[in-house]
Amino acid sequence: MKTLNLIALSVLSLSTFANTLGGYSVSEESLCHGFPKAQLETPEGTCVGIVATQEDGLKRPRRILALPGGDFIITDMTGWVANKGIVWRFNPTSNTLSKIFTGIDHAHGLALGPDGLVYFGSKAQIFSFDPTQELPQKRTVLSGLPTAGNHPLTHFIFDEEGNLLVNVGAPSDQCLDEKDRPQYPCPESEGKNPEAVIRKYSKSSGYQSYEVIAKGLRNSMALAIEPLTGQLYQGENGMDFKELETPLEEINLITKGKHYGWPYCYEDGLLNPKYKRTFFNRRVPKIDCSVYESPVAHLPAHSAPLDMMFYQGDMFEELNGKLVVSLHGYRETGHRIVSLDLNEQLIPSGETRKELVTNWSGKNGLTPKGSPVGMTVAKDGAIWFVEDKNKTIMVFAKGSQAGQNNQTTQTQISYKDLTHEQAEEFSFLNKAILKKSCTSCHGQMAGDDESVFNTLIDDGFIKPGNKEESSLHFRILNNENGNQMPLGGKPVDTELTNKLGLFIDALKTP
Ligand code: HEC
Repeated sequence: MKTLNLIALSVLSLSTFANTLGGYSVSEESLCHGFPKAQLETPEGTCVGIVATQEDGLKRPRRILALPGGDFIITDMTGWVANKGIVWRFNPTSNTLSKIFTGIDHAHGLALGPDGLVYFGSKAQIFSFDPTQELPQKRTVLSGLPTAGNHPLTHFIFDEEGNLLVNVGAPSDQCLDEKDRPQYPCPESEGKNPEAVIRKYSKSSGYQSYEVIAKGLRNSMALAIEPLTGQLYQGENGMDFKELETPLEEINLITKGKHYGWPYCYEDGLLNPKYKRTFFNRRVPKIDCSVYESPVAHLPAHSAPLDMMFYQGDMFEELNGKLVVSLHGYRETGHRIVSLDLNEQLIPSGETRKELVTNWSGKNGLTPKGSPVGMTVAKDGAIWFVEDKNKTIMVFAKGSQAGQNNQTTQTQISYKDLTHEQAEEFSFLNKAILKKSCTSCHGQMAGDDESVFNTLIDDGFIKPGNKEESSLHFRILNNENGNQMPLGGKPVDTELTNKLGLFIDALKTP
């Protein structure tokens, strides 16, 4: 959205990249679909343009919707804080982003209704408004969605009959009790008002009554209907095991009345180790995983599918009908957009995964680490998407690819490069901060000093020499967006936080 000010033309001759936009290096003459081109890897003849950034006011955009008239609606949750979300409208003709609603509690889900109204989610509720009105009023469609625990964000789609399919995420990661013991049956998923389900609110009831159509789904942030078969698919964000390779994320074909296994079983009939009956673990019976539905396709572990759609549009013939998935995860396998081919039965197949937008791990100041979330297809077939951490709206379109982005990443610092004093200081911080306040939710931050330090570097939580850009540090600081860690817990002592800042600032890349 920003026109690039070329402050000093002479700089251009020295460097191809004249400016940064939303953390991406861009140059005046290099555009994609009319927007500054991001230096990302995409298939030949395609590119990514940067449409809007935090300079335009975006804070944590999560979903985007193309309106039939050509404008876009964006929901922006702002942060993990109540009543601060924004619903935006972007007009690509005038290149303007304007606010429609503010003060929305965890603004999230977004879809076009069968009545032409725009539906958007907030904590526990879904609203609608008429996008053709100049000053739209919002109307409550339904309220009372469960919000306990880890998954307060509302996500939904419409089915072909106009019913609303709503994700009700699991309140906890594995349904363990306060002593970390398994609970069988899990009260969260099997109770009278089960969570970890997809609910169907019928259009005929004015979205007032619902039935549970599938159970045992931990968090269905990606839902899509295959248009030829009418079948519903779910992208499962699997349990937070500490291991890097497991559990694989899943694409599930949703069949009415089925149970997909959470929290007992995952992937193709694997038993969650916590639910294994042993001499010491007699609280659970022997669980037969074969009674639970297996996924139709796998995605890499911890890749975090946060949106998906069956592409239909004129721009990318090669993508027609395929399943396009945004992977949000910050681990190696995440932060990219991929497509899956369908097999002869029109079922997505995990073996045919292709990368559409990648090489997005944060490179030499050329690009930040990607964080794609919601996607939508514009009238011309271009795929527009939002990133929540980099706070951008971007477009994936036909155009000449970004220049060869072959600079190798600088050699990273690793635990072995630390001085004796630094190693001792890290050992102290590891115990005093991470072990005490963070590892209960962030399993990857747990372990011996060496492995924890290397993970923090590899996963980009620590940027050596720069505490301001190190999320490990800035997420501990108090800030107005309510992003402060530990989530919902007692803030970390200021003195310890300062120590962590000093430790990070003193790190030097070898
Ligand atoms: C009660 C659970 C919980 C605890 C405890 C917790 N976190 Fe988090 N953390 C989360 C959740 C959920 C997210 C993802 C949502 C978000 O980014 O706000 C998150 C996200 C983060 C992120 C951003 C991750 C990314 O993808 O870039 C960082 C950094 C982080 N936490 C650091 C910490 C640190 C440091 C501590 C300890 C001081 C901590 N967290 C304690 C739940 C927790």
